[in-house]
Amino acid sequence: MVDQARTEFVRRRYNRFAALYDLMENMGSGRMDEWRRQLWTHAGGKILEVGTGTGRNQPCYPEGAEVTAIDLSPAMLERARLRLEQLRREGRLRAASVDLREMDAQAMAFPDRFFDTVLATCVFCTVPDPVAGMREMRRVCKPDGKILLLEHMRSERRGWGSLLDALDPLTARIVGTHVNRRTMDNLAAAGIRVERVENLMLDILRLIVARP
Ligand SMILES: C[S@@+](CC[C@H](N)C(=O)[O-])C[C@H]1O[C@@H](n2cnc3c(N)ncnc32)[C@H](O)[C@@H]1O
Repeated sequence: MVDQARTEFVRRRYNRFAALYDLMENMGSGRMDEWRRQLWTHAGGKILEVGTGTGRNQPCYPEGAEVTAIDLSPAMLERARLRLEQLRREGRLRAASVDLREMDAQAMAFPDRFFDTVLATCVFCTVPDPVAGMREMRRVCKPDGKILLLEHMRSERRGWGSLLDALDPLTARIVGTHVNRRTMDNLAAAGIRVERVENLMLDILRLIVARP
């Protein structure tokens, strides 16, 4: 059962945060675009992007791909629409089609085993029930498909882990983002089989290639 109150809280936070999101992202790691591109090299076939936000992954969409991209927040999606128009105008969109939809990752309106690739970047820190969202990713992914993630999570290093625990109440309240999620445990709880993990910023940001 989706916790509607917590989900509405996240939607409102991101609706409010949408105007600032790209600014904050631009101030973050200069290598984020490179890591996004690295993740997308594993994507193919019919693709679902979960929690697309302002559409920062759009320049990485593969040549000729059919992409469906969902998000909970209409304000974030509106920015994704504008980015898509701009990429199209500038001839920089390589995907054949992009379908943007408002949808909750915890209860998706897609049939089982529908997509070849299901991908998310920096999303499972915000989905109120991450295991429910991951179970949905697994459900809509074909059995021989791929689940690709670029996610920040709680560090297993003692000092960093404790620091993230201390910061979590603040980030959760201000931007609706949890910085101490145990994402590897959550993937296991959702029945997703991790094939490969690459630590990108200590063990806090990780690139994950997995199977449903
Ligand atoms: C930190 S942003 C990341 C956006 C984008 N993936 C990126 O890499 O820039 C998290 C996004 O996840 C979305 N989100 C959070 N919970 C969600 C849910 N239950 N269903 C769909 N999207 C959700 C938020 O609205 C927000 O746009």
